[in-house]
Formats: sequence, C-alpha cells, structure tokens
Amino acid sequence: MNISIVSWLVLAISTISIFSYVAGASAPVRCRGVDQRSLLLKLRNSLVFNASVSSKLVQWDQSVDSWSNVTCEDDLVVGFDLSNESISDGIDGSSSLLRLELLRRLNLAFNGFNYLPIPSGLANLSRLTHLDLSYAGFAGQIPAGLSCLTKLRTLDLTSGRDYYPALLFLGQPSLSLLIGDLRELRELYLDGVDVSAEGSEWCDALTSSVSKLEVLSMSYC
Ligand SMILES: *[C@@H]1O[C@H](CO)[C@@H](O)[C@H](O)[C@H]1NC(C)=O
Ligand SMILES: *[C@@H]1O[C@H](CO)[C@@H](O)[C@H](O)[C@H]1NC(C)=O
Ligand SMILES: *[C@@H]1O[C@H](CO)[C@@H](O)[C@H](O)[C@H]1NC(C)=O
Ligand SMILES: *[C@@H]1O[C@H](CO)[C@@H](O)[C@H](O)[C@H]1NC(C)=O
Repeated sequence: MNISIVSWLVLAISTISIFSYVAGASAPVRCRGVDQRSLLLKLRNSLVFNASVSSKLVQWDQSVDSWSNVTCEDDLVVGFDLSNESISDGIDGSSSLLRLELLRRLNLAFNGFNYLPIPSGLANLSRLTHLDLSYAGFAGQIPAGLSCLTKLRTLDLTSGRDYYPALLFLGQPSLSLLIGDLRELRELYLDGVDVSAEGSEWCDALTSSVSKLEVLSMSYC
C-alpha cells in the first residue's frame, strides 16, 4: 500500500515536472538574435504609420522581449504580420525590412501605401514562402523581382476592384513571366489586378509553371 502510494507520488511528480518543462519550452518566442531587435526597431522607426490606429507597431519596444505579431525561430525573425496598421510609407531599398533575410512570412495587407509601387527590394527576401500584399494600397506595375521569390507558396496581390484603371497591373513582366519560376506556388490571388496586357498565354503558363497550384483567384482581372 505504502509502496504504491510512494510510486504514485514519484510518477505524479515526474509527470508534473515533464509538463512544466514542456510548458517552459513553449513559452512566448523571443527575438534575441544578434541585431534582430535593432533591425525591428529601425524598421518601426522608418515606417510611416498612424499610431492611433496601430495595434502592433506601437507595442514594438526595446524594453520587451516578445514582439507583437513577430515570429522568431532560434531567436531570429522569420515572420511578421503588419496587416491593418495604417502604414503609408517607409519601405525603400535601404529599409531594414530587406535585411531580415530569413523572413518566410510577410503580411502587409490592409495598409494605406498611397499608390506607391510595390518595393522591388522585396526580391531580396528570397526565403519568403508567404507574401500577403492584399489591399495594401500599392499601385503600378508589379515588380519583376517578385518572380525571383521561388519559394513562395502563397502570393496575395488582391487590390481594390473599384478602381479604373486598376491599381496594380502586370504588363512587363507579364503574368506568365511573374509565375514562370514560382514552382512551389499553392495559392495565387490576383483579384482586381489588370493582366490584360497579355493574351491567353498566362493560361498555359499556369498549367506548365505552377503545377502545384491549388487556389487561383482572379476576379475583376
Ligand atoms: C489617425 O487615425 C485617426 C483615427 O482614425 C484619425 O482621426 C487621424 O486623423 C489620423 N491621423 C493622421 C495623421 O492621419
Ligand atoms: C497579433 O498578436 C496578438 C497578441 O499576441 C494576437 O491576439 C493576434 O491574434 C495577432 N494577430 C495576428 C493577425 O496574428
Ligand atoms: C482594422 O482595424 C480596425 C480597428 O483599428 C478594425 O475595425 C478593422 O476591422 C480591421 N480591419 C481588418 C481588415 O482587419
Ligand atoms: C538586395 O540585393 C541586391 C542584389 O542582390 C544587393 O545589391 C542589395 O544590397 C540588397 N539590399 C539589401 C537591403 O540587402
């Protein structure tokens, strides 16, 4: 009897310590990697956004260890979500965003980039698997550099459908050229993007280049 109580206690205690170890291991991810914090702070300081609308960037602060809506692995930034932050400017060729080279997920959806072109420097983020620029307020020709992001699985360039001419368009490069090397693409959203510069070649490009495609959305194109 006593022995079974003792062994039960031992079992209970070891179970509890295993659980607390696991819980500790899954505590909020922190971004302590070399210069990651200073890159994030530089990024925040260079972005033009409305602090009274922002819920994420306003919380980015040197003094805290965990960063709102930033994902890290091994203390290095691999993703962040800056959707709906009223960002209107501040991503240029020297942006510290482009130095976060390990980024895999970037979400800039629902911002107000004031009809600026999509930053061609995004091409430097060669590890991106998910890029969401939907309703971000970008306008003009979609830069050729995006065609170098060969690891992309999801690309969302949806823009407002109520614009004429369309905010974003694919002329040079065309849709075929853009997706030519994006062989990992699973989801492509181009709603509201003007692809009319090209004939029906893009249809063939879709079947030959992006054979893994599962979702294609092209309303109001
Ligand atoms: C920031 O957003 C608030 C709330 O929407 C608005 O009242 C204010 O005018 C905005 N400020 C600027 C500088 O756009
Ligand atoms: C951002 O982070 C907050 C708090 O951690 C969380 O509640 C929210 O769902 C996140 N938002 C997105 C879009 O990931
Ligand atoms: C953006 O944030 C505002 C609050 O600041 C919220 O009302 C709105 O639903 C959000 N929009 C999206 C698309 O998340
Ligand atoms: C982006 O890549 C180009 C060419 O590879 C390089 O010259 C440039 O310095 C890079 N920009 C940043 C911000 O890393």
